[in-house]
Amino acid sequence: MDKPKVVLGVSGGIAAYKACELLRRLTESGHEVRVVPTASALHFVGAATWSALSGNPVSTEVWDDVHEVPHVRIGQHADLVVVAPATADTLAKAAHGLADDLLTNTLLTARCPVVFAPAMHTEMWEHPATQENVATLRRRGALVIEPAVGRLTGVDTGKGRLPDPGEIFEVCRRVLARGVTEPDLRGRHVVVSAGGTREPLDPVRFLGNRSSGKQGYALARTAAARGARVTLIAANSTLPAPAGVDVVPVGTAVQLREAVLRAAPEADAVVMAAAVADFRPAAYAAGKIKKKDGQEPEPITLVRNPDILAEISADRARPGQVIVGFAAETDDVLANGRAKLKRKGCDLLVVNEVGELKTFGSEENEAVVLGTDGSETAVAHGPKEALAETVWDLVAERLS
Ligand SMILES: Cc1cc2nc3c(=O)[nH]c(=O)nc-3n(C[C@H](O)[C@H](O)[C@H](O)COP(=O)(O)O)c2cc1C
Repeated sequence: MDKPKVVLGVSGGIAAYKACELLRRLTESGHEVRVVPTASALHFVGAATWSALSGNPVSTEVWDDVHEVPHVRIGQHADLVVVAPATADTLAKAAHGLADDLLTNTLLTARCPVVFAPAMHTEMWEHPATQENVATLRRRGALVIEPAVGRLTGVDTGKGRLPDPGEIFEVCRRVLARGVTEPDLRGRHVVVSAGGTREPLDPVRFLGNRSSGKQGYALARTAAARGARVTLIAANSTLPAPAGVDVVPVGTAVQLREAVLRAAPEADAVVMAAAVADFRPAAYAAGKIKKKDGQEPEPITLVRNPDILAEISADRARPGQVIVGFAAETDDVLANGRAKLKRKGCDLLVVNEVGELKTFGSEENEAVVLGTDGSETAVAHGPKEALAETVWDLVAERLS
């Protein structure tokens, strides 16, 4: 089988060096990559680097190898075009259809999915001109990844940083796998909770659970790659932030509830994949609980935590909002799942079997998604990403 053909456009931002890592990931995972830098990009990383790492010739202008008509051919043959970093200037040219170098010509001739990963100073990103250009590109079907917040060129910090190249690669991989040119969750805002809450007993101890956050992160990554604006409420997870996703870190069930209630009013869909503790210690000891000679420890009294899924399902923040719950069951999985779907009042319930060595922390999952309409969608054992795609397919059906 032919290798998928990827065009990596690189424009003239300080983050151009990070595109070398993206290029490596793409070539090492079996993609044929043609790098098309702008002339400005070559001030940051030279043509020799792009050519040697990609194994392909590199030009910035339409005047090289004219007999091969590269200004048309490169775009026409691409399965994916990703521009990383995308400068304010390149976004503006793309939005207005300018074609004064090889990259902008390629963007006009490509009929495959196009991904832009903008990177620039916060002022440039927030400027109405840039925001309108981004909106135009999104309206036309391009996937424009929200920049990350963090250190920029020099000492500045703010929104405008290029997301981690590994995470941009994950977006590219998912977009290529779907093979559709229009991101179907474009214009949608989704909230995903992930990880496991921790309920403190004293300053050093907590009651927790085995959730790693991998399923919730897979849901967030997949939704972003399908064009959604994603708020990821992450309980105690150390996983890398997915590209373009707004991560809200939380610790306890009560904090998670507050974050969900804050984000839900703007959300078209809420997917509650976090493992939220049902109970928390009734009392919190301000100092570390000590062993006392000859005495048995005090029993721990628990109180119930709020039931966030039932609460947001009963009192929808928006009409038509789709709410998805997860049920981790150890036995009688489907029967318990059906009862839980009724009790919680959500639209979809992802039922999976968990155990000490099952699902938690694993890269794989298998589940049945139950719908209030009586539907049952079985997802075979496979990567958590596959389950995430099915969940978003079912959510997208309900949103439309
Ligand atoms: C040191 C330096 C860093 C720059 N970093 C960025 C950047 O991160 N993002 C951006 O949009 N422009 C940045 N610029 C400005 C662009 O290089 C400039 O707008 C250029 O015309 C972009 O051309 P291109 O879009 O054809 O690559 C930077 C310029 C310099 C000198």
